[in-house]
Amino acid sequence: MANAESKVALVTGANKGIGLAIVGQLADLGYTVLLGARDAARGAEAVASISRQGRDVRFQLIDITDADSVARAAADIEREFGRLDALVNNAGLKLEWHPSPPSQCTMDLVRQTYETNVFGTMSIILAMLPLVRRSDAGRIVNVSSGLGSIGLAKTPNTPFNLKPMLSYSTSKTAVNALTVQFANELRDTPIKVNAADPGYTATDMTFHDSARTPDMAARPIVRLATLPADGPSGGFFDESGVVPW
Ligand SMILES: NC(=O)c1ccc[n+]([C@@H]2O[C@H](COP(=O)([O-])OP(=O)(O)OC[C@H]3O[C@@H](n4cnc5c(N)ncnc54)[C@H](OP(=O)(O)O)[C@@H]3O)[C@@H](O)[C@H]2O)c1
Repeated sequence: MANAESKVALVTGANKGIGLAIVGQLADLGYTVLLGARDAARGAEAVASISRQGRDVRFQLIDITDADSVARAAADIEREFGRLDALVNNAGLKLEWHPSPPSQCTMDLVRQTYETNVFGTMSIILAMLPLVRRSDAGRIVNVSSGLGSIGLAKTPNTPFNLKPMLSYSTSKTAVNALTVQFANELRDTPIKVNAADPGYTATDMTFHDSARTPDMAARPIVRLATLPADGPSGGFFDESGVVPW
């Protein structure tokens, strides 16, 4: 059992990269953290790599594209904790690498990307929301990307304008849109729903092509997962503040 005082967080896609860093930071804040991974061996290895004295990190099997897996995970959390204080929708994939002109994208690529980034994220929120509602101060953070910002994509000579990616970028735009939809519905509850841009970070997704570390990328996400009662909801933020839609 978790300490009765400790908050419970679930982070999806947390066996590596930014998700693993989010788990470590939430655990250091005293959360009981469920490290979500779709593969049992990779998940167990990640839990072992991040566990140390004072951290309560536990493996949670969850494939966000598999309805049975999502339902089983919700049932596991319900049975063990009866609530969820923070849900971090971090699992995602990017199947394009720039230059990636939209006209050369395929529908197969779009469908695969949306299956995880959009439909997977939606299905997790739908399955976990009853548990988040039982928290005194539920927080939902959807990990988006600056590439999902239409405002940045329309700003000339920015990386967002110069690196079109039909499937990934528009999937993250949809993540931003679904963030607002849930935030609006929940506006009269204590629950806050926000989207986060971690910034361009050295992970497997970027072939480690950045000086930005997963720990740096995790900070704005953890800030949104631990917002105080007077914090914002229905917004899109990076470490510097508001990101344009
Ligand atoms: N890195 C960047 O520069 C950057 C920038 C902006 C936004 N982001 C976003 O940040 C998040 C984390 O990305 P990252 O850079 O840490 O990527 P990463 O190292 O590739 O990690 C992605 C994680 O998502 C998991 N995942 C993928 N599909 C899944 C599924 N169906 N069910 C459960 N887990 C699944 C992966 O699991 P497996 O190991 O089993 O594949 C992995 O744990 C993503 O949403 C990404 O779009 C990243």
